[in-house]
Amino acid sequence: MRRVGILTGGGDCPGLNAVIQGVFVRACQYGYEVYGVEDGYKGLLYGKARKLTPKDIEDIYWLGGTILGTSRKNPAKSQEELKTIIENVKKLRLDALITIGGDDTLGAAKKLYDMGIPVVGVPKTIDNDLPLTDYSIGFWTAIETIADALGKLHTTARSHKRVMIAEIMGRYAGWLTLMGGLAGGAHIILIPEKPVDIDEVCRIIKQRRERGEPYTLIAVAEGVMVPTTGEIVTASTEKDEFGHVRLGGVSKVLEEEIKKRTGEEVRSVVLGHIQRGGIPSAYDRVLGIRLGFKAVDLVKEQKFGYVVVVKGVDIIPVKIDEVVGTIRKVPSELHEFTDVFTGLTVNHKS
Ligand code: F6P
Repeated sequence: MRRVGILTGGGDCPGLNAVIQGVFVRACQYGYEVYGVEDGYKGLLYGKARKLTPKDIEDIYWLGGTILGTSRKNPAKSQEELKTIIENVKKLRLDALITIGGDDTLGAAKKLYDMGIPVVGVPKTIDNDLPLTDYSIGFWTAIETIADALGKLHTTARSHKRVMIAEIMGRYAGWLTLMGGLAGGAHIILIPEKPVDIDEVCRIIKQRRERGEPYTLIAVAEGVMVPTTGEIVTASTEKDEFGHVRLGGVSKVLEEEIKKRTGEEVRSVVLGHIQRGGIPSAYDRVLGIRLGFKAVDLVKEQKFGYVVVVKGVDIIPVKIDEVVGTIRKVPSELHEFTDVFTGLTVNHKS
């Protein structure tokens, strides 16, 4: 065991560089060299990798994004490309490949593992929708960003006595919207896992005004189904290499509907890629470094075909096939937290 490759795939997020630094430091302790693959599987397809030096990784743990670059390249789409990638792993003489990514990247890693590449996975996605890990890298930083944005929307919404709708990422899972909405005090939280009752939304808005709370902040997940059309709103019909359409626009649809039904002044804002940017939170820095260490420990033990995941305070290995192929949705036990801040409970008690 001498040369370890590392790549980041899929959407970027804060904390990826902390993983890279953790991998590098641990690898150095074991006397391994680390090769950084450029732009995820796209780079690997062209054999683009460079030997990382201490200078490359110095203090990157607090930098957002990924110093390696990333792409949404799906190598498993063509047998030809899979074969080229395997040849390149051999040409680069990589004894192991650490892939940091979400369901798409880890799904492709599983294919490579099945074809004989010694792979270890690290879970990354702000969506937090990977099974078997309590959290994935980037999630808690995105929550900080969302909470901060909602805090700012409160002050402008309150001043203008408006209904303000914030559209939050997360694809078909509501983790970002639920946790971000809770942290940011959203009065109404709409997640894909719980059907939207538009009458109830309008009732809360009206009731808040009648009770002297003339503004309402709504956090809506981009993957929420519009009750009036029964459809999820897409920003474009184009699909990426993994077959995903780009979601976006539900907040605008709700803006029109709520305006029509309540006569309130309504504004909507899409938080967008700001949620994936910026400096990782302390939690994501620490988590990233720990996941990086553990991934290299698995390489040392030659325990391939595993993903390192968070379970309570521990980092443990789980089989890659158990992590890929399904989306972890917000469980029903947590649905009751979607209307903690309606203000109605508080008024009712007083
Ligand atoms: O999966 C992470 C994510 O940020 C989703 O929440 C979002 O729908 C998607 O990526 C956006 O992808 P892109 O960066 O390709 O626009």
